[in-house]
Amino acid sequence: MQKSNKLRLVLIMMLAVVMIFAACGGPSNGNDVNDASVAQGNNPEQSENQDAAEGNADAAEDSSEQEQAVQEEPEEPAEPPVEPSVEQDIPSLKDVYADYFPIGAAIEPHQTTGLVSELLKKHVNMIVAENSMKPSSIQPQEGNFVWTNADKLVNFAKENGMQIRFHTLVWHNQVPNWFFLDEDRKPMVDETDPEKREANKQLLLQRLETHVRTIVERYKDDIKYWDVVNEVVEPGDPGGIRNSPWYQITGTEFIETAFRVAREAGGPDIKLYINDYGTDGVRKRDIIYDLVKEMLDKGVPIDGVGHQTHISIHGPTVASIIDSMKKFAELGLDNIVTELDMSLYSWNDRSDFGDKIPDHILMKQAERYQQLFEAFKENTDILSEVTLWGISDKHTWLTGFPIQRVGEAPLLFDKNFHAKPAYWGVVDPSKLEDMKNQ
Ligand code: GLA
Repeated sequence: MQKSNKLRLVLIMMLAVVMIFAACGGPSNGNDVNDASVAQGNNPEQSENQDAAEGNADAAEDSSEQEQAVQEEPEEPAEPPVEPSVEQDIPSLKDVYADYFPIGAAIEPHQTTGLVSELLKKHVNMIVAENSMKPSSIQPQEGNFVWTNADKLVNFAKENGMQIRFHTLVWHNQVPNWFFLDEDRKPMVDETDPEKREANKQLLLQRLETHVRTIVERYKDDIKYWDVVNEVVEPGDPGGIRNSPWYQITGTEFIETAFRVAREAGGPDIKLYINDYGTDGVRKRDIIYDLVKEMLDKGVPIDGVGHQTHISIHGPTVASIIDSMKKFAELGLDNIVTELDMSLYSWNDRSDFGDKIPDHILMKQAERYQQLFEAFKENTDILSEVTLWGISDKHTWLTGFPIQRVGEAPLLFDKNFHAKPAYWGVVDPSKLEDMKNQ
């Protein structure tokens, strides 16, 4: 009997264990169960969210389908995308200006082929290297003259009956540092010992002479117009001469040396220019004037002043640009416009029209280009070349300067190489009137 009671007790206990086991829900109890349930518990929520998101996406898709459906039935057909092309049925700039002055454009070697080269051939009869003839491109290491890109431009010009202006023998930018290192590869500008400073000066002038002579001898029969020095005046610097390493090491002797050697190497027929920006500003203009006068008095062979003319639709005045040329003409100097472009923005403006440049802005640009070229035509006795810093808005340094901008368009042809209102301002202003009345 006791045995059977014990057995019963054991059975009852076993039953109790089974019931507890069943109530706990399975063999893996404890934390495992809880973890699993937490983990699983998130899933439904996730999938609910997912559903909701998908639902939204569906809704969005639905509505965009609806929108598309609306867009697919526009009242007027959408305009086809504009394809780049060279318009053959418009006048050639160089022909329109044939009786006045050559029309130039700054170019890169890659622009000697393809559609843009056709645009250049149609409209310009002068080119200048945007970068390929700067000191860092031509002599990156001492004695290592690299001609490939410069030659390419020279050949392109010759093949197409274009003149070339060399830009530039001397500049404080895009000049390799080796020019300014002493025999021990130390910066010459840091030297304080007067004797060593003098030796450094002679070394730098010798390097300059080699640079100028080598280049001018190579191209003197192909290139008639030369930017000898670029941007050597800076009104904010002491004495108004840019405080570059050139100036710190040689004073203004580098300017004299560059012109003298260019003349020696190139002979009397090449034309030698001092080039700068902001030459319409009275202060800067007068410093350049004084510098050039002093040089001429010393017999330094300077033929003319290059006016870069990076301007904007807001300024400077056309009158100030012409006045400056008149002042240099008093010294018997020629004037050339070397880097013309017309930004849509004033200097301090950091905005961007983006893809949609307003028509009235392009029209304002056209009117200013018109006024400028009218003034140029009236002054051909003192002005002998007008070169733009590029040919179409597809390739212009101003999309990256002074800030990155999509909506910059400083030239006469748009990004698809098509004539802008600015082109018509220069070629046939009556077309601007037609455009305004449209
Ligand atoms: C100056 C130089 C040019 C060119 C422009 C900006 O004007 O003379 O060679 O570098 O800056 O691109």
